[in-house]
Amino acid sequence: MSHASPLRIGVLGSGKGSNFAAIADAIGSGTIAAQVALVLSDVAGAGILAHATTRNLPARFIEPGKFRTKLDETAEAAFVQALREAGVELIVLAGFMRILKGEFLRAFEGRVINIHPSLLPSFPGLEAWKQALDYGVKVTGCTVHYVDQGIDTGAIIGQEAVPVMAGDTAGTLHERIQEAERRLYPAVVGAIARGEIQVRGRLTRGFDPARG
Ligand code: GRF
Repeated sequence: MSHASPLRIGVLGSGKGSNFAAIADAIGSGTIAAQVALVLSDVAGAGILAHATTRNLPARFIEPGKFRTKLDETAEAAFVQALREAGVELIVLAGFMRILKGEFLRAFEGRVINIHPSLLPSFPGLEAWKQALDYGVKVTGCTVHYVDQGIDTGAIIGQEAVPVMAGDTAGTLHERIQEAERRLYPAVVGAIARGEIQVRGRLTRGFDPARG
């Protein structure tokens, strides 16, 4: 699918929003043919909302409800409605700390992507950089993948490897991975916006990391 008009993306995040900032800036400079239609957060004071506001992009906090790791039914419906009203075609999870399942994924089937701070399928779940360090791997990285019903299990679109250095702490390794994320995520969103990614089952084709 190739887009005549800029791809409308919705971004969901709970944290500082450095991935979102990298994507928004790549859009702003014309590297990615997309438009940020809406930024949503489940955390009222999240940095991602400030990054949106300073760039004059529409952003909203939506109350997540009573659960800690997922949205409750009302919140899920509010997220879906806001994204639909904004005409979002691709949902970009950028540090969104709640699991999205059921209704949400059905509403946007095959149109939700996430970035994870490891080379999946190694180290799914929380603090993947720390898992990698504790395991003793010498190479880790980051992965952009489609979101399915599992935890970090969807079809992989692109990956970037990051070396683990002698003397790394969880903090230094996480920072090195995040630098890679800020290259990889905009590159993948750009490829999707140009209609270059094909998906068959859990296999994807079309991402060329050299193109950026
Ligand atoms: C990233 O490290 C990403 O891998 C994980 O959450 C973090 C979000 O960071 N899913 P930021 O909010 O984009 O700075």
